[in-house]
Amino acid sequence: MGVVRNLRQVSADDAGVDIAFRADVHAGLSQRQKAIPARWFYDATGSALFEDITALPEYYPTRSETDLLTRHAADIAAAIGPGRAVVELGSGSSTKTPLLLDAIDPAAYVPVDISGDFLRDSAEALAERFPGLAIYPVEADFTQRVDLPREICPLPKLGFFPGSTIGNMVARTAIDLLRNWRSALGDGSLMLIGVDRIKDIGILELAYDDPAGVTAAFNINLLERINRELGGDMAVENFSHRAVWDDIHARIEMHLVAACDMDFTIDGRAYRMAKGETIHSENSHKYGVRDANLLLRAGGWTPLATWDDVDPAFALILAEATEFRSAP
Ligand code: TRP
Repeated sequence: MGVVRNLRQVSADDAGVDIAFRADVHAGLSQRQKAIPARWFYDATGSALFEDITALPEYYPTRSETDLLTRHAADIAAAIGPGRAVVELGSGSSTKTPLLLDAIDPAAYVPVDISGDFLRDSAEALAERFPGLAIYPVEADFTQRVDLPREICPLPKLGFFPGSTIGNMVARTAIDLLRNWRSALGDGSLMLIGVDRIKDIGILELAYDDPAGVTAAFNINLLERINRELGGDMAVENFSHRAVWDDIHARIEMHLVAACDMDFTIDGRAYRMAKGETIHSENSHKYGVRDANLLLRAGGWTPLATWDDVDPAFALILAEATEFRSAP
């Protein structure tokens, strides 16, 4: 089977720049607290830098999650069963995917990612490793409406949402996303989701501000991408990376901090930042046991099983699409 067909669901302007990128940058930089949505980290350079992050000694989530998938493969497979279409949200390089696909004997694989080149390369690599599997890569933003390939319509689905990417959304957006995918994947579907746990603040802050500066480079690449694709003239060297724990929101916040007063233009539009002012570029929310279960239930998914016996703590939760009912 291999890669059956690539589906592209993003729109670019004449210069090949994603239309939504331009709009998001101008809207975000016009707010009182400047902010840019995290999806724009993942151009080809950003996606490659993110792969480097996942290999850092301080960045435990990838290792913890891979451990769980490896050690509990048999239990996970027994709970999921064979013959499902696996729809992976934000597949990136798909490095954890083979562990899951090996274990469960799926009927199809649909990786969804916003980074098109990256998506196609990893789909090709997976096709070699799983020659009998039908793969339908979809280049799309999984936080928006995604049209699934028609071939998987009759199959039971498994959403696979690893990497604690759900933690990169604020609660309201996370619940919207879970509800949307509950309806897109349909009755009888399952969701296997990676959620990072609340833990020692020192461990958390190091995971998002490593001494080698890879996470800083990843954050700064967002500004370089703006200069490159949107004709910006930001003095990138005058920004630094900051990662701090916010206990009220139970999240690590990432910011780009201006080292001095500065003026810059993007697309000919003028912006000004004061020394110490920041652009908020990412959140990574962490969840306790009941927090995570509540989030899933609010999003229309009923938790069935949790695997989380690793250190540093991280959880893989299997949930089923909640049946609609009118009384308790
Ligand atoms: N889902 C990942 C996480 O929250 C994404 C991530 C890891 C990330 N490191 C980052 C995003 C640094 C922005 C900056 O752990």
